This record gives sequence, structure tokens and C-alpha cells, in this order.
Amino acid sequence: MNTNDVIIRYEEKGEYREVENLVRESFWNVYRPGCSEHYVIHVLRDDPAFVKELDFVMELDGVLIGQNMFMKTVINADDGRDIDVLTMGPICIAPELKRKGYGKILLDYSLEKAAELGFGAVLFEGNIDFYGKSGFDYARKFGIRYHDLPEGADDSFFLCTELIPGYLDEITGVYQTPQGYYVKDADVEEFDKEFPAKEKLKLPGQIFD
Ligand SMILES: CC(C)(COP(=O)(O)OP(=O)(O)OC[C@H]1O[C@@H](n2cnc3c(N)ncnc32)[C@H](O)[C@@H]1OP(=O)(O)O)[C@@H](O)C(=O)NCCC(=O)NCCS
Repeated sequence: MNTNDVIIRYEEKGEYREVENLVRESFWNVYRPGCSEHYVIHVLRDDPAFVKELDFVMELDGVLIGQNMFMKTVINADDGRDIDVLTMGPICIAPELKRKGYGKILLDYSLEKAAELGFGAVLFEGNIDFYGKSGFDYARKFGIRYHDLPEGADDSFFLCTELIPGYLDEITGVYQTPQGYYVKDADVEEFDKEFPAKEKLKLPGQIFD
């Protein structure tokens, strides 16, 4: 795809490290001092739940400026069924190009491709201010609960969109984050040593220590 000098294409093996560095630059000190997402994508690419057909990067004038990826997971429905769904991310845009509309272009394109592949719904943790503009709503409105969240706890981070309209009709249940997203801090630390040194900062707005 090519819109105004932007190309969205599949990630290639030869650029894995470059993409990991992009993810690291984009997430660094945003949600915690440092970040773990560059290691998360490193691990997830080898996970059986990883959807290779939805592993995208975005280029501007030949330079990598964004990436997005999806994983297969399930909703454990209250009626005993497991409902196949997707989860998404990490998604990122290069730090100097945030808030210029590129993230939305990448997100909308990725969702369109996921829909074309026949997936029914996408659920994940995110900020409604960004994802709401691409059709996401609070997952609770679809009757889906976040795993391990105490009753009454704030679940406004947990978002959902249907790619097949009505896919989650008549379904209530608990969404499961794929295990691959849970990485050990010590492994992140070790992996991070392979990248240029960067200062970890405690900043306002971070949600993890
Ligand atoms: C989140 C991210 C992918 C969004 O991409 P982007 O190119 O910066 O976003 P866009 O310019 O397309 O944003 C479109 C609209 O979404 C909303 N939005 C985007 N990022 C937002 C944020 N951090 N907070 C609140 N609203 C946001 C805004 O309304 C924005 O329009 P505006 O800039 O005209 O107000 C990008 O900022 C990023 O890489 N952030 C760091 C990594 C990250 O947080 N990834 C997502 C983890 S869930």
C-alpha cells in the first residue's frame, strides 16, 4: 500500500533488528523506565500464535517509521466455547513522527487486512483516545472481561473491535492475553544490552514501575 509517500509492507527477516530498535526508540520511557516491547516482538515472531500474514512495517521515503503485528488468541466464553480472536501489538511509530497521522494509517490498514483474512474481532490493551478513532470501543460493551481483573476494577484500558459485524453477539466471556507477551525482566535486561545505551527515566504518566 502507498499513500502520500508511505508504504506499508510485510516485515522482512533481514530487518528484524532494525524494527526492534525502532520499537525500542518508540516505547522507551513511555510506559515505564526503559521498555520491554523490543524484546516482546523478538520473542513473539517465533510464537505459534504469531500471524505472519499480519506482520507489517511502514516506510516513509525508504526509512522504517512504524510497525504493527497480531497474535491469535481466544475468549473463554461463559458457555464453554473458545472463541478465536486476534490481539494486536506492539504497534509503534518513530518518536519524531508521532501524532502526524501515520499511526492511524497503519492501524486502519492492518485492521482491513485482518478483516480480509476472515478474523472476527481484535481485543487488546490500549488508549481509547487513539484506538477509538479506528472503531475500537471498551471490550466490556461487547460482554468481554479481561482475565485476572478484580470485579469493579478499572477496565477502560481493555478495547475491542469486531471485524465481522456481530461476531461477538450472544457471547460473554474472558479474554486471554497470549502467554508470549509475558516476558521476564531479566531477559529484557539481557537482550537490551545488544542495543545502544539509553537512559531509563522515571517520568510522569508511566503506568509501570
Ligand atoms: C500510539 C501510536 C502508535 C499512535 O501513532 P501516531 O502516529 O502517533 O498517532 P496518530 O497521529 O495517527 O493519531 C491519530 C489520533 O489518535 C489520537 N492519539 C494518538 N496518540 C495518542 C496518545 N498518545 N494519547 C491520546 N490520543 C492519541 C489523537 O486524537 C490523534 O489525533 P491528533 O494528533 O490530531 O489529536 C504512537 O504514538 C506510538 O508509537 N506511541 C508509542 C508506542 C505506543 O504507545 N504504542 C501503542 C501501545 S498500546
